[in-house]
Amino acid sequence: MSTFSKENTNEIFEDIIRNLSRGVKDRKHDFHTPVFSNINNQNSIESRVVVLRDFDVENMILNFHTDYRSPKVEDLTKNENSLFVFYDYKLKVQLRIKTISIINNQNLLTEEKWNKTKLFSRKCYLTKKAPSTPTNIPEDGIDISLQGKEPSREESEKGYKNFTVVQNKIKEIDWLYLEASGHRRLKITFKQNIKNFEWLIP
Ligand SMILES: Cc1cc2nc3c(=O)[nH]c(=O)nc-3n(C[C@H](O)[C@H](O)[C@H](O)COP(=O)(O)O)c2cc1C
Repeated sequence: MSTFSKENTNEIFEDIIRNLSRGVKDRKHDFHTPVFSNINNQNSIESRVVVLRDFDVENMILNFHTDYRSPKVEDLTKNENSLFVFYDYKLKVQLRIKTISIINNQNLLTEEKWNKTKLFSRKCYLTKKAPSTPTNIPEDGIDISLQGKEPSREESEKGYKNFTVVQNKIKEIDWLYLEASGHRRLKITFKQNIKNFEWLIP
């Protein structure tokens, strides 16, 4: 349990940084699987769970991985505004983080991350049809020859063109701390990485 002052803006910020960093490394941390939302081409909201893969503290960028063929990739190129929601039951903290998304495919960043991706995880990028394509049978879209097993390195390489890193540059963090003796809420906005703090009524 964190023991920092919930009245001190810098300590709150440090705690946010600490827990987002833990969320990347610790698969059991609640911040490992945030909800990520964007606006689709019908101008309606799409939300889904993603895995937090990286947090670049210096540049305040959150990354997750996806398939280039997934509808959210094209939607994010048309409308880069996005939002993460994190909630940790034990910390009693909700974070709503507004971001600007940048799509990376077949570039230096994806090459670096792909090289660190395990063969089993690479399998996600080997579906024959694009994610979200309707199908008349219940299936995972992976070729029958690969079902129930890890692809060889050579087979896995076919997934590289689909492997996409979504970088999300943080614009604003809305921190909410739930506490019986009195909830607290702080808005942190970033302009050219300069922080501005504003207390809000929870
Ligand atoms: C625990 C969990 C982790 C997930 N991680 C990711 C992820 O990192 N990237 C991703 O594209 N989809 C991930 N998904 C699947 C998405 O929630 C979603 O179903 C999928 O991306 C297709 O929908 P969309 O393209 O309309 O967002 C995850 C789902 C769960 C339940």
